[in-house]
Amino acid sequence: MDKSPRRRVAVVGATGVAGQQFLVSLANHPWFEVTALAASPRSAGKIYRDAITSPSGQLGWACDGDLSPAFAEMVVVDAQKLDLGNVDIVFSAVESDAARDLEARFAPRVPVISTSSAFRYADDVPIIVPGVNGDHAALVKRQQRERDWRGFVLPIPNCTTTGLAIALAPLVRTFGVDAVVMTSLQALSGAGRSPGVIAMDVLDNVIPFIPKEEEKVQTETAKILGTLAGDRIESLDLPVSATCTRVNVRDGHTEAVTAGLSRPAEIEEVAAAMRSFGSEFVDLDLPSAPPQMIHVSDDPYRPQPRLDRGLNDGMTTVVGRLRKDHVLGNGIRFVLLSHNTKMGAAKGAILVAEQVVAQGLA
Ligand SMILES: NC(=O)c1ccc[n+]([C@@H]2O[C@H](COP(=O)([O-])OP(=O)(O)OC[C@H]3O[C@@H](n4cnc5c(N)ncnc54)[C@H](OP(=O)(O)O)[C@@H]3O)[C@@H](O)[C@H]2O)c1
Repeated sequence: MDKSPRRRVAVVGATGVAGQQFLVSLANHPWFEVTALAASPRSAGKIYRDAITSPSGQLGWACDGDLSPAFAEMVVVDAQKLDLGNVDIVFSAVESDAARDLEARFAPRVPVISTSSAFRYADDVPIIVPGVNGDHAALVKRQQRERDWRGFVLPIPNCTTTGLAIALAPLVRTFGVDAVVMTSLQALSGAGRSPGVIAMDVLDNVIPFIPKEEEKVQTETAKILGTLAGDRIESLDLPVSATCTRVNVRDGHTEAVTAGLSRPAEIEEVAAAMRSFGSEFVDLDLPSAPPQMIHVSDDPYRPQPRLDRGLNDGMTTVVGRLRKDHVLGNGIRFVLLSHNTKMGAAKGAILVAEQVVAQGLA
């Protein structure tokens, strides 16, 4: 990198579950300085602490650790009126309906790193998972050329896709993968807070359906694991059969995965491929990168959300119960755990931003 990586950043959707996690990961960030917080008209004009305080006085800060005083006193602006003169990069953490309009307003002027699905499926938009497909980010040049934008939109995937794509990437590269069957047990924080999951619905319960989630996992996994071919991404020809459920866990998506490999492999080889995955990316030493992309546990009782989601501040995917499967050809099975609001949302998006800054794209 020949230029200073210092950038002024705005967090749009700063009051939500993902937005709050952005603030946690941006406090004291060595490259990024938060110059604006934006949300809906409901929050606009209030100082941040008041914007997240309910009428009955409850502070709606949902993260571990305290809200930084520096952010607590900042005035939240209406995202529609965000002044981009003071901003080099926008982090977008709003639902896709709002994001479609807002991100299209910001991207003509500045890079937008998004947690929403608004632009994920456009032909000129890559979906980036740190350490997996950073080369796809070059596709933003097509956005700039064809849409006449100075910035771009660069989304991260749905938080359930993140851990799956990371765990599958070394398998695709080392052995090939012909088919995947996955059942998720997704955390409550993944549903956000507006309206989120109602406590009485999920207590002592499992919700067996999350609208649009299974389609997102199928499409996004194939796109992320695909190949950048000139000006487009050729999705990997990989059938992914997903069943997505919501469980009574605060943070951390667990996924039970069966994969049919393209050639036979011993479990030790699979574990070795996972353990060594992403070392070149880790060696870039980006501020938010974990020291290890995948941790493979030999303990048959791991991973567990409560015990393992915090590994390397939620940036490492934890894999356990690695074993052979006899239903799919050359089958293997494992359980993975991925922190949905850390690697799967805010800190993962920040890591993507660090990567594009290092690549000279932002
Ligand atoms: N939660 C996760 O684990 C996770 C993981 C990956 C990706 N994501 C994605 O991140 C995005 C945000 O999810 P979330 O879970 O953080 O949702 P959330 O808790 O419901 O927060 C929504 C945020 O969007 C703001 N907002 C709503 N409507 C708006 C509008 N019209 N204009 C500007 N801001 C508006 C809200 O502001 P007010 O407070 O002012 O209403 C709030 O800050 C979604 O696209 C979601 O799919 C979430």
